[in-house]
Amino acid sequence: MGSNIPLFPEAASAIAPDVDHLALFLLAVAAFFSVAIFATIFYFAIRYRRRSDRELPHVQHGGMLLEILWSVIPFAITMVMFTWGARLYFQESRPPDNSLPIYVVGKQWMWKIEHIEGQREINELHIPVGRAVKLTMTSEDVIHSFFVPAFRTKSDVVPGKYSTEWFTATKPGKYHLFCAEYCGNRHSGMIGWVYAMEPQDYENWLNSNPPPSTMAESGGKLFNGMGCPACHKPDGTGRCPSLVGLYGSTVHLAGGNTVVADEAYIRESILEPQAKIVAGYGSLMPTYKGQVTEEDLVQLVEYIKWLGDKSQGNKPAPGTQGEPLTIPELRGK
Ligand code: CUA
Repeated sequence: MGSNIPLFPEAASAIAPDVDHLALFLLAVAAFFSVAIFATIFYFAIRYRRRSDRELPHVQHGGMLLEILWSVIPFAITMVMFTWGARLYFQESRPPDNSLPIYVVGKQWMWKIEHIEGQREINELHIPVGRAVKLTMTSEDVIHSFFVPAFRTKSDVVPGKYSTEWFTATKPGKYHLFCAEYCGNRHSGMIGWVYAMEPQDYENWLNSNPPPSTMAESGGKLFNGMGCPACHKPDGTGRCPSLVGLYGSTVHLAGGNTVVADEAYIRESILEPQAKIVAGYGSLMPTYKGQVTEEDLVQLVEYIKWLGDKSQGNKPAPGTQGEPLTIPELRGK
């Protein structure tokens, strides 16, 4: 609907028409009441104008029916706005489980993107149409915001945490990518393009840019290089918990709380190992803050996902297609 109105950007994601319908509803309500209020002001100004110097206004002492009507009607309208908006908001904030994961690291002033297959891009994002894509995003410096108007989706990209954004592109094409949070004097240059491609074209694009290693492989190299396997033994006999099958599982913490092992938990455990101690283990692990970049961290996250994803029935994480990775250190175990 929105695409017929030249003021709207192209609608190219599954949720775009729903967002447009809500925006048009809000616009229609605002327009209706603006017109009604202004028309009433003019009508009353003329109808009840003072006709002579001695004329005194007739005093009106309220009206219960009127009071009730102008309380109940706006209440009903705002509740429609609230439930409609909240429904869309929750839909936009919950990526489907089978989404294609892609990682985004923002910095002044560029978007660095990494696909799980290992392809990297800067200020460009290639995606397949017809498939839910989940971006896991963070920033190296200040707050940025990842905004694709054609997909009607935008999410702040905040240093020190992961935020997510997901969409299903519906039309192949080239769409604007903006930074929508003022982030310094070259904020306006922090722009790029999203290329939505037919699945086969996307496969061809992936294959035409063969990376040296997948994200999980790069993460595995980091994991081994930093000496993590010395404590995190895959069979659980190490001084620290095994990470096999960790992703998506519920972790019992010292003190009785539990936490679901998602990307944010893994990131926090690497940078601030003391924040959440697993029940039955000591606080042995040193922080790796300052030793790993945000880009290293997302590779480590992908590696740990690859070690087994409980939410996927302990099969390899989505996207890795189960093909064996060549991480020699793991082979021996
Ligand atoms: Cu990054 Cu504005």
